[in-house]
Amino acid sequence: FTRSFSQPSSQSKPPSFGIAFDIDGVVLRSEAPIGGSPQVFRRLYDDSGNLSIPYVFLTNGGGFTESKRALELSELLGVKISPLQVLQGHTPFKQLVNRFENELIVAVGKGEPAAVMSEYGFKNVLSIDDYASCFENIDPLAPYKKWTTKQVKEVAARDLVSSQRVQAAFIVSDSVDWSRDIQVLCDILRTGGLPGREIGHQPHLYFAHDDLAYQAAFPTERFGMGAFRIALESIFNRIHPHALEYTTFGKPNPFVFNNAELVLKQLVSALHDNLQVANQANAGSYQFQTLYMIGDNPSVDINGARQAGHPWFSILTRTGVFKGKENHAEFPADLVVF
Ligand code: G3P
Ligand code: MG
Repeated sequence: FTRSFSQPSSQSKPPSFGIAFDIDGVVLRSEAPIGGSPQVFRRLYDDSGNLSIPYVFLTNGGGFTESKRALELSELLGVKISPLQVLQGHTPFKQLVNRFENELIVAVGKGEPAAVMSEYGFKNVLSIDDYASCFENIDPLAPYKKWTTKQVKEVAARDLVSSQRVQAAFIVSDSVDWSRDIQVLCDILRTGGLPGREIGHQPHLYFAHDDLAYQAAFPTERFGMGAFRIALESIFNRIHPHALEYTTFGKPNPFVFNNAELVLKQLVSALHDNLQVANQANAGSYQFQTLYMIGDNPSVDINGARQAGHPWFSILTRTGVFKGKENHAEFPADLVVF
Protein backbone atom coordinates (compact mmCIF):
# COMPACT_ATOMS: atom_id res chain seq x y z
CA PHE A 1 0.00 0.00 0.00
CA THR A 2 2.74 2.45 0.96
CA ARG A 3 4.32 1.68 -2.39
CA SER A 4 1.19 2.64 -4.33
CA PHE A 5 1.29 6.05 -2.64
CA SER A 6 5.06 6.32 -2.81
CA GLN A 7 7.28 9.25 -1.94
CA PRO A 8 6.06 10.14 1.52
CA SER A 9 7.10 13.71 1.94
CA SER A 10 9.51 14.33 4.77
CA GLN A 11 9.57 18.08 4.15
CA SER A 12 5.96 19.03 3.45
CA LYS A 13 3.52 19.46 6.30
CA PRO A 14 0.95 16.71 6.84
CA PRO A 15 -2.52 17.69 5.57
CA SER A 16 -4.74 19.22 8.21
CA PHE A 17 -7.84 17.79 6.55
CA GLY A 18 -9.21 14.66 4.97
CA ILE A 19 -12.26 13.90 2.84
CA ALA A 20 -14.93 11.18 2.88
CA PHE A 21 -16.86 10.92 -0.38
CA ASP A 22 -20.25 9.31 -0.58
CA ILE A 23 -20.51 7.43 -3.90
CA ASP A 24 -24.11 7.13 -5.13
CA GLY A 25 -25.54 10.54 -5.92
CA VAL A 26 -22.23 12.36 -5.36
CA VAL A 27 -19.47 10.69 -7.36
CA LEU A 28 -21.55 8.34 -9.53
CA ARG A 29 -25.08 7.83 -10.77
CA SER A 30 -25.13 4.09 -11.27
CA GLU A 31 -21.90 3.60 -13.28
CA ALA A 32 -21.64 7.13 -14.67
CA PRO A 33 -19.39 9.76 -13.03
CA ILE A 34 -21.36 12.86 -12.00
CA GLY A 35 -20.25 16.20 -13.42
CA GLY A 36 -16.50 16.61 -13.29
CA SER A 37 -15.85 14.04 -10.57
CA PRO A 38 -12.83 12.40 -12.34
CA GLN A 39 -11.14 15.84 -12.57
CA VAL A 40 -11.78 16.42 -8.86
CA PHE A 41 -10.08 13.15 -7.94
CA ARG A 42 -7.04 13.93 -10.06
CA ARG A 43 -6.53 17.05 -7.95
CA LEU A 44 -6.07 14.89 -4.86
CA TYR A 45 -2.83 13.48 -6.33
CA ASP A 46 0.50 15.12 -7.09
CA ASP A 47 2.03 15.42 -10.56
CA SER A 48 3.53 11.93 -10.28
CA GLY A 49 0.14 10.42 -9.51
CA ASN A 50 0.82 9.89 -5.80
CA LEU A 51 -1.93 10.62 -3.33
CA SER A 52 -1.46 13.99 -1.69
CA ILE A 53 -4.78 14.53 0.11
CA PRO A 54 -6.06 11.68 2.31
CA TYR A 55 -9.52 10.63 1.22
CA VAL A 56 -11.84 7.63 1.45
CA PHE A 57 -15.08 6.54 -0.15
CA LEU A 58 -17.71 6.20 2.55
CA THR A 59 -20.62 4.47 0.88
CA ASN A 60 -23.52 2.43 2.15
CA GLY A 61 -23.51 0.59 -1.17
CA GLY A 62 -21.67 -2.65 -1.85
CA GLY A 63 -21.93 -6.17 -3.20
CA PHE A 64 -18.29 -6.60 -4.23
CA THR A 65 -15.08 -6.97 -2.24
CA GLU A 66 -13.26 -3.78 -1.35
CA SER A 67 -10.42 -4.76 -3.70
CA LYS A 68 -12.77 -5.28 -6.65
CA ARG A 69 -14.61 -2.03 -5.94
CA ALA A 70 -11.28 -0.17 -5.69
CA LEU A 71 -10.31 -1.45 -9.15
CA GLU A 72 -13.67 -0.48 -10.62
CA LEU A 73 -13.52 3.02 -9.09
CA SER A 74 -9.93 3.43 -10.29
CA GLU A 75 -11.07 2.71 -13.84
CA LEU A 76 -14.16 4.93 -13.67
CA LEU A 77 -12.35 7.88 -12.11
CA GLY A 78 -8.90 7.50 -13.69
CA VAL A 79 -6.89 7.50 -10.46
CA LYS A 80 -5.21 4.80 -8.40
CA ILE A 81 -7.47 3.83 -5.50
CA SER A 82 -6.43 1.43 -2.73
CA PRO A 83 -8.90 -1.09 -1.23
CA LEU A 84 -8.17 0.60 2.13
CA GLN A 85 -9.88 3.71 0.81
CA VAL A 86 -13.12 1.85 0.10
CA LEU A 87 -15.42 1.73 3.13
CA GLN A 88 -18.69 0.04 2.17
CA GLY A 89 -21.88 -0.60 4.12
CA HIS A 90 -20.85 -4.22 4.67
CA THR A 91 -17.20 -3.52 5.55
CA PRO A 92 -17.92 -3.74 9.34
CA PHE A 93 -19.32 -7.28 8.87
CA LYS A 94 -15.73 -8.52 9.11
CA GLN A 95 -15.83 -7.68 12.83
CA LEU A 96 -18.35 -10.52 13.28
CA VAL A 97 -16.09 -13.19 11.83
CA ASN A 98 -15.07 -14.63 15.21
CA ARG A 99 -18.70 -15.18 16.08
CA PHE A 100 -19.70 -17.00 12.89
CA GLU A 101 -16.40 -18.16 11.39
CA ASN A 102 -17.43 -21.79 10.93
CA GLU A 103 -21.21 -21.46 11.20
CA LEU A 104 -23.49 -21.71 8.18
CA ILE A 105 -24.42 -18.19 7.12
CA VAL A 106 -26.41 -16.87 4.17
CA ALA A 107 -25.38 -13.75 2.25
CA VAL A 108 -28.01 -11.74 0.35
CA GLY A 109 -27.79 -9.12 -2.36
CA LYS A 110 -26.65 -8.01 -5.80
CA GLY A 111 -23.08 -8.64 -6.94
CA GLU A 112 -21.03 -11.29 -5.15
CA PRO A 113 -22.27 -11.28 -1.54
CA ALA A 114 -20.79 -14.69 -0.66
CA ALA A 115 -17.37 -13.73 -2.06
CA VAL A 116 -17.47 -10.59 0.11
CA MET A 117 -18.14 -12.62 3.25
CA SER A 118 -15.53 -15.25 2.34
CA GLU A 119 -12.91 -12.54 1.94
CA TYR A 120 -13.79 -11.31 5.44
CA GLY A 121 -12.96 -14.79 6.74
CA PHE A 122 -16.37 -16.49 7.03
CA LYS A 123 -15.74 -20.11 6.09
CA ASN A 124 -19.23 -21.56 5.67
CA VAL A 125 -21.12 -19.01 3.60
CA LEU A 126 -23.66 -19.46 0.82
CA SER A 127 -25.29 -16.79 -1.31
CA ILE A 128 -29.07 -16.84 -1.05
CA ASP A 129 -29.10 -17.92 -4.73
CA ASP A 130 -27.14 -21.06 -3.92
CA TYR A 131 -28.97 -21.61 -0.66
CA ALA A 132 -32.44 -21.36 -2.24
CA SER A 133 -31.42 -23.73 -5.02
CA CYS A 134 -30.87 -26.46 -2.38
CA PHE A 135 -34.61 -26.51 -1.59
CA GLU A 136 -36.92 -27.75 -4.29
CA ASN A 137 -40.00 -25.56 -4.86
CA ILE A 138 -39.01 -23.05 -2.17
CA ASP A 139 -39.91 -20.25 -4.60
CA PRO A 140 -43.19 -21.08 -6.40
CA LEU A 141 -42.64 -18.11 -8.73
CA ALA A 142 -39.26 -19.31 -9.97
CA PRO A 143 -40.69 -20.85 -13.19
CA TYR A 144 -42.02 -17.40 -14.14
CA LYS A 145 -38.70 -15.65 -13.66
CA LYS A 146 -36.80 -15.04 -16.86
CA TRP A 147 -33.34 -15.08 -15.31
CA THR A 148 -31.52 -18.20 -14.20
CA THR A 149 -29.45 -18.71 -11.08
CA LYS A 150 -26.70 -21.25 -10.59
CA GLN A 151 -27.85 -24.54 -9.08
CA VAL A 152 -25.96 -26.31 -6.32
CA LYS A 153 -25.86 -29.70 -8.04
CA GLU A 154 -24.04 -31.99 -5.63
CA VAL A 155 -26.60 -34.01 -3.74
CA ALA A 156 -24.29 -34.20 -0.71
CA ALA A 157 -24.09 -30.40 -0.52
CA ARG A 158 -27.86 -30.10 -0.82
CA ASP A 159 -28.42 -32.66 1.91
CA LEU A 160 -25.96 -30.91 4.19
CA VAL A 161 -27.59 -27.53 3.71
CA SER A 162 -31.07 -28.86 4.23
CA SER A 163 -30.08 -30.39 7.58
CA GLN A 164 -27.72 -27.68 8.88
CA ARG A 165 -29.18 -24.67 10.67
CA VAL A 166 -28.40 -21.22 9.32
CA GLN A 167 -26.98 -19.23 12.22
CA ALA A 168 -27.12 -15.79 10.61
CA ALA A 169 -28.29 -13.98 7.50
CA PHE A 170 -26.32 -10.99 6.23
CA ILE A 171 -27.94 -8.52 3.86
CA VAL A 172 -24.77 -7.45 2.08
CA SER A 173 -26.27 -5.37 -0.73
CA ASP A 174 -29.63 -4.61 -2.32
CA SER A 175 -31.83 -7.67 -2.83
CA VAL A 176 -32.31 -8.46 -6.52
CA ASP A 177 -35.38 -10.67 -6.12
CA TRP A 178 -37.46 -9.34 -3.24
CA SER A 179 -40.21 -11.97 -3.55
CA ARG A 180 -37.78 -14.92 -3.38
CA ASP A 181 -35.52 -13.33 -0.77
CA ILE A 182 -38.37 -12.32 1.57
CA GLN A 183 -39.85 -15.81 1.27
CA VAL A 184 -36.57 -17.63 1.92
CA LEU A 185 -35.46 -15.25 4.69
CA CYS A 186 -38.81 -15.69 6.44
CA ASP A 187 -38.35 -19.48 6.09
CA ILE A 188 -34.88 -19.25 7.67
CA LEU A 189 -35.79 -16.75 10.37
CA ARG A 190 -39.06 -18.29 11.58
CA THR A 191 -37.72 -21.86 11.82
CA GLY A 192 -34.45 -21.28 13.58
CA GLY A 193 -32.56 -21.70 10.33
CA LEU A 194 -34.13 -24.78 8.71
CA PRO A 195 -36.72 -23.91 6.02
CA GLY A 196 -39.75 -26.18 6.02
CA ARG A 197 -39.43 -27.10 9.70
CA GLU A 198 -41.42 -25.98 12.75
CA ILE A 199 -41.10 -22.55 14.36
CA GLY A 200 -37.80 -21.95 16.16
CA HIS A 201 -35.58 -19.27 17.64
CA GLN A 202 -34.78 -16.51 15.17
CA PRO A 203 -31.21 -16.62 13.79
CA HIS A 204 -29.21 -13.37 13.73
CA LEU A 205 -29.97 -10.88 10.99
CA TYR A 206 -27.63 -8.09 9.88
CA PHE A 207 -28.19 -5.35 7.34
CA ALA A 208 -25.26 -3.46 5.76
CA HIS A 209 -27.31 -0.26 6.07
CA ASP A 210 -30.85 1.03 6.31
CA ASP A 211 -31.15 3.50 3.41
CA LEU A 212 -34.80 3.93 2.50
CA ALA A 213 -33.81 5.27 -0.91
CA TYR A 214 -30.74 6.20 -2.93
CA GLN A 215 -29.89 7.96 -6.16
CA ALA A 216 -29.28 5.68 -9.14
CA ALA A 217 -29.59 6.49 -12.86
CA PHE A 218 -33.36 7.24 -12.77
CA PRO A 219 -34.18 10.93 -12.10
CA THR A 220 -35.89 10.30 -8.76
CA GLU A 221 -34.52 8.09 -6.01
CA ARG A 222 -34.97 4.30 -5.93
CA PHE A 223 -35.90 2.04 -3.01
CA GLY A 224 -32.88 0.88 -1.03
CA MET A 225 -32.09 -1.71 1.61
CA GLY A 226 -34.16 0.12 4.22
CA ALA A 227 -37.24 -0.34 2.06
CA PHE A 228 -36.46 -4.04 1.73
CA ARG A 229 -36.02 -4.23 5.52
CA ILE A 230 -39.47 -2.66 6.06
CA ALA A 231 -41.07 -5.16 3.67
CA LEU A 232 -39.34 -8.15 5.28
CA GLU A 233 -40.08 -6.94 8.81
CA SER A 234 -43.76 -6.23 8.07
CA ILE A 235 -44.31 -9.69 6.68
CA PHE A 236 -42.24 -11.48 9.32
CA ASN A 237 -44.11 -9.73 12.13
CA ARG A 238 -47.40 -11.04 10.68
CA ILE A 239 -46.25 -14.66 10.58
CA HIS A 240 -44.17 -14.95 13.75
CA PRO A 241 -45.14 -14.47 17.42
CA HIS A 242 -42.00 -12.37 18.15
CA ALA A 243 -41.05 -9.17 16.37
CA LEU A 244 -38.10 -9.37 13.96
CA GLU A 245 -34.75 -8.68 15.62
CA TYR A 246 -31.95 -7.24 13.53
CA THR A 247 -28.91 -4.97 13.53
CA THR A 248 -28.15 -2.35 10.89
CA PHE A 249 -24.68 -1.06 10.05
CA GLY A 250 -23.62 1.74 7.68
CA LYS A 251 -24.14 5.49 7.81
CA PRO A 252 -25.55 7.32 9.80
CA ASN A 253 -24.06 5.22 12.64
CA PRO A 254 -21.32 7.37 14.22
CA PHE A 255 -18.96 4.36 14.49
CA VAL A 256 -18.76 4.36 10.68
CA PHE A 257 -17.44 7.93 10.80
CA ASN A 258 -15.04 7.11 13.65
CA ASN A 259 -13.67 4.22 11.60
CA ALA A 260 -13.33 6.47 8.53
CA GLU A 261 -11.35 8.92 10.67
CA LEU A 262 -9.02 6.11 11.74
CA VAL A 263 -8.47 5.00 8.14
CA LEU A 264 -7.78 8.60 7.07
CA LYS A 265 -5.17 8.84 9.82
CA GLN A 266 -3.56 5.65 8.53
CA LEU A 267 -3.43 7.22 5.06
CA VAL A 268 -1.68 10.27 6.49
CA SER A 269 0.82 8.06 8.27
CA ALA A 270 1.51 6.17 5.03
CA LEU A 271 2.03 9.48 3.22
CA HIS A 272 4.12 11.18 5.86
CA ASP A 273 6.53 8.81 7.49
CA ASN A 274 8.05 11.70 9.46
CA LEU A 275 4.93 11.86 11.61
CA GLN A 276 5.90 8.84 13.69
CA VAL A 277 2.44 7.44 13.10
CA ALA A 278 3.45 4.67 10.77
CA ASN A 279 1.21 1.98 12.16
CA GLN A 280 -2.38 1.50 13.14
CA ALA A 281 -1.67 1.51 16.87
CA ASN A 282 -0.26 5.02 17.01
CA ALA A 283 -2.05 6.50 13.98
CA GLY A 284 -4.74 7.45 16.49
CA SER A 285 -2.52 10.17 17.95
CA TYR A 286 -2.66 12.28 14.77
CA GLN A 287 -5.42 14.92 14.83
CA PHE A 288 -7.12 16.36 11.76
CA GLN A 289 -8.42 19.89 11.97
CA THR A 290 -11.30 19.08 9.63
CA LEU A 291 -12.77 16.01 7.99
CA TYR A 292 -15.21 16.73 5.17
CA MET A 293 -18.14 14.40 4.58
CA ILE A 294 -19.55 15.05 1.11
CA GLY A 295 -22.94 13.41 0.70
CA ASP A 296 -26.30 13.69 -1.05
CA ASN A 297 -28.55 12.14 1.60
CA PRO A 298 -29.42 14.43 4.55
CA SER A 299 -30.77 11.73 6.89
CA VAL A 300 -27.80 9.43 6.24
CA ASP A 301 -24.66 11.35 5.27
CA ILE A 302 -25.33 14.68 6.96
CA ASN A 303 -27.08 13.21 10.01
CA GLY A 304 -24.15 10.81 10.50
CA ALA A 305 -21.46 13.49 10.20
CA ARG A 306 -23.38 15.73 12.62
CA GLN A 307 -23.68 12.94 15.16
CA ALA A 308 -19.99 12.09 14.84
CA GLY A 309 -19.18 15.72 15.73
CA HIS A 310 -15.70 17.29 15.63
CA PRO A 311 -13.71 17.22 13.35
CA TRP A 312 -16.45 16.35 10.84
CA PHE A 313 -17.80 19.10 8.56
CA SER A 314 -20.77 18.13 6.40
CA ILE A 315 -21.24 19.15 2.78
CA LEU A 316 -24.59 18.39 1.13
CA THR A 317 -24.79 18.23 -2.67
CA ARG A 318 -27.87 18.64 -4.84
CA THR A 319 -26.68 15.94 -7.24
CA GLY A 320 -28.57 13.02 -5.70
CA VAL A 321 -31.29 12.34 -3.12
CA PHE A 322 -31.39 15.96 -1.88
CA LYS A 323 -32.88 18.38 -4.39
CA GLY A 324 -34.01 21.24 -2.13
CA LYS A 325 -33.29 24.92 -2.74
CA GLU A 326 -32.29 25.79 0.83
CA ASN A 327 -30.54 23.68 3.42
CA HIS A 328 -32.33 20.56 4.68
CA ALA A 329 -34.68 21.46 7.55
CA GLU A 330 -34.18 18.44 9.82
CA PHE A 331 -30.53 17.63 9.08
CA PRO A 332 -28.95 20.91 7.94
CA ALA A 333 -25.45 20.55 6.49
CA ASP A 334 -22.57 22.89 7.32
CA LEU A 335 -22.52 23.74 3.60
CA VAL A 336 -24.83 23.07 0.65
CA VAL A 337 -23.28 23.02 -2.83
CA PHE A 338 -24.23 22.64 -6.54
O1 G3P B 1 -27.26 0.95 -2.35
C1 G3P B 1 -26.43 2.04 -2.17
C2 G3P B 1 -27.08 3.21 -1.55
O2 G3P B 1 -28.09 2.86 -0.64
C3 G3P B 1 -26.17 4.22 -0.92
O3 G3P B 1 -24.94 4.47 -1.50
O4 G3P B 1 -22.86 5.72 -1.86
O5 G3P B 1 -25.01 6.94 -1.48
O6 G3P B 1 -23.94 5.74 0.41
P1 G3P B 1 -24.15 5.79 -1.07
MG1 MG C 1 -25.41 8.85 -1.68
